[in-house]
Amino acid sequence: MRIGFVGTGVISTAVVTALMSSSNSPTQIVVSPRNASRANDLAQRFTAVTVGRDNQDVVDRSDVICLGVRPQDAQAALAALRFRSTQTVISFISTFSMEDIATLVQPCATVFRVVPLPPVARRLGPIAVFPAGGVVEEVFGDLGNLVAVADEQELQTLWSATSMMASYFRLQESAASWLVSQQVAPERARMFVASMFHALADTGLRELDTDFAQLAIDHATPGGLNEQLMRELETAGCFDTVQDGLALILRRMRGEAGFDDTLDQRL
Ligand SMILES: NC(=O)c1ccc[n+]([C@@H]2O[C@H](COP(=O)([O-])OP(=O)(O)OC[C@H]3O[C@@H](n4cnc5c(N)ncnc54)[C@H](OP(=O)(O)O)[C@@H]3O)[C@@H](O)[C@H]2O)c1
Repeated sequence: MRIGFVGTGVISTAVVTALMSSSNSPTQIVVSPRNASRANDLAQRFTAVTVGRDNQDVVDRSDVICLGVRPQDAQAALAALRFRSTQTVISFISTFSMEDIATLVQPCATVFRVVPLPPVARRLGPIAVFPAGGVVEEVFGDLGNLVAVADEQELQTLWSATSMMASYFRLQESAASWLVSQQVAPERARMFVASMFHALADTGLRELDTDFAQLAIDHATPGGLNEQLMRELETAGCFDTVQDGLALILRRMRGEAGFDDTLDQRL
């Protein structure tokens, strides 16, 4: 199978890296020349990867074309491209519906939406796919935990939750920099916090039958340190803000809010 990538950014680079370490590596990958440094780096790392002359060259040389451009660039990048009816298009673009993509890639009629996340590079993490089956299972089946999504509404909702990635690290940064402010050496603080979050994330995945509320209780000794901090965060509204923020992101996914909308506007 020949796979092409239009838009060689963070996500396309991670997916190409994953594909090249999977049991089912494609024979040929063509990446678009933009971003040049990422594209050239992939071609240097993997002999199966070549850099296309331009986006049309990527499309012409591929059976399956992954779309890895940002939403604000998608219209301009795709409108002038000529697809074939026999090709498959897999879109990573967050805010473009199946209908939006199908219109842009006519006469190609086989379109999927897929949500890989940066750890896909190490073949880790969830990969939401819509619809399930077919080529998308063949390409992504070995790259992470495939989550077959029922409809585009569920896809949008799950996609909204991926907005927590940066905050996950920001939370760790907050803990680590507090440790440093208390005279813990930066490298020790960094390792301590990362190791703790890693171990706890692993618990969450291993104990899928235990809901998160129960895991929180299990990790809070009555009258202990964890119960106290969780109580303070709860009282300050931190967890409610997470849910309100996710609702805002979902509204943005639906085109009902923009980047400049904030939760403060509720007040
Ligand atoms: N990052 C994530 O965690 C994530 C997860 C799931 C889905 N997505 C989706 O994946 C898409 C890409 O996200 P990303 O994080 O990989 O963004 P990114 O790193 O900014 O990658 C986008 C790439 O597209 C290139 N590009 C811009 N205009 C182009 C054009 N006309 N033709 C070809 N390439 C063009 C950019 O080049 P320049 O660098 O030169 O501008 C950049 O390399 C987005 O639609 C996003 O919604 C992202």
